Amino acid sequence: MRAAAFTDLTGPDGVGIVDRPDPEPERGDAVVDVEACSINRHDLWILEGDSAMVDADDLPFVSGLDVAGTVREVAPDVTDVEPGDRVVLCPNETCGSCRFCREGPENMCENFSLYHGGLAERARVTADRLVALPDGVEATTAAALPTAYVTAYRMLRRADLAAGDRVFVPGATGGVGVAAVQLCDALGIETVGTSRSADKLDRVREVGLDRGVESADIAEIEAAIDEPVDAVVNHLGGEYSKLGQSVLRRGGTMVVCGRTAGGTSEFDVADLFLAHKRIVGSTMGTQPDLKRLVELVADDAFEPVIDDTYPLAETGAAFAAMQERESVGKLVVVS
Ligand SMILES: NC(=O)c1ccc[n+]([C@@H]2O[C@H](COP(=O)([O-])OP(=O)(O)OC[C@H]3O[C@@H](n4cnc5c(N)ncnc54)[C@H](OP(=O)(O)O)[C@@H]3O)[C@@H](O)[C@H]2O)c1
Ligand SMILES: [Zn+2]
Repeated sequence: MRAAAFTDLTGPDGVGIVDRPDPEPERGDAVVDVEACSINRHDLWILEGDSAMVDADDLPFVSGLDVAGTVREVAPDVTDVEPGDRVVLCPNETCGSCRFCREGPENMCENFSLYHGGLAERARVTADRLVALPDGVEATTAAALPTAYVTAYRMLRRADLAAGDRVFVPGATGGVGVAAVQLCDALGIETVGTSRSADKLDRVREVGLDRGVESADIAEIEAAIDEPVDAVVNHLGGEYSKLGQSVLRRGGTMVVCGRTAGGTSEFDVADLFLAHKRIVGSTMGTQPDLKRLVELVADDAFEPVIDDTYPLAETGAAFAAMQERESVGKLVVVS
């Protein structure tokens, strides 16, 4: 089979097509014919050599978490899925025995890691991590969900929001950003988001963004947000964290899941305790979260935004588009 592998960690030019032996299922596994795999900034960090998870010794490395397709083969002990089933993968890898695996939520597993290997024609995965796709939910659509939408969904849950609340989404045009906007829209929650691109903000308005601030200047954005928000969906980190804190209402919650704009942030400590604000971290979500999102898509509650699809051979171009910040929503590699 063919796979789009990272052959060096210098950026999108480091993606090459390699031949790999067809995977065979071991105990508990299924082999999926991959029809679609969306890419995430997580994959781009790896490709740019900015991830502690993968180094030169791991090359060539096949990334890709968000696999959707059709089951091709299962190990003899697998009964939950069978060849021909249409599925999407929950990429969570958990130990099954720590406190959080026992009590939940599973995404807090002390030994949490993620599946990689979806940027290929076939993927060997843990069969009980597969979620069935209802008729009418295409593989390309489903592949958008497991990382960006599930993460945004969990972040909104952590902020205890209700219809009528207001959420600030700095960087409202990417995978997690658009997902947060759409999920808020479906829940009757108002959003204000930022981008350096007016055109991209216009496209996010079409899927529910209530107010867009076209700026990358922190002081300018702060001045534009004249009413405090109930929550901040912060996937940027860096100086956006202090900004998020300052536009948060008394008792509001900022949920942080990423570091695109910087791995360290400053906080106003007195404001934090005097105004009873909460800053919480969040990573991914649970397999039941993914199931719920698949059901919501099947019920037409929202339609994931896919900017473009790329054949496997052009996976490098998909990463270049992400790096250049050209896209709105998700980029999906199809085989
Ligand atoms: N912890 C988790 O479980 C988890 C899960 C998913 C994602 N994440 C993290 O969340 C972040 C977003 O991931 P994603 O896949 O949604 O990425 P993405 O699609 O590439 O996000 C693009 C968005 O980020 C903005 N952006 C890009 N570079 C920026 C910069 N230097 N400064 C300010 N804004 C910038 C873009 O703004 P413009 O419109 O101005 O270009 C756009 O709105 C990443 O840090 C990722 O690692 C974490
Ligand atoms: Zn665990």
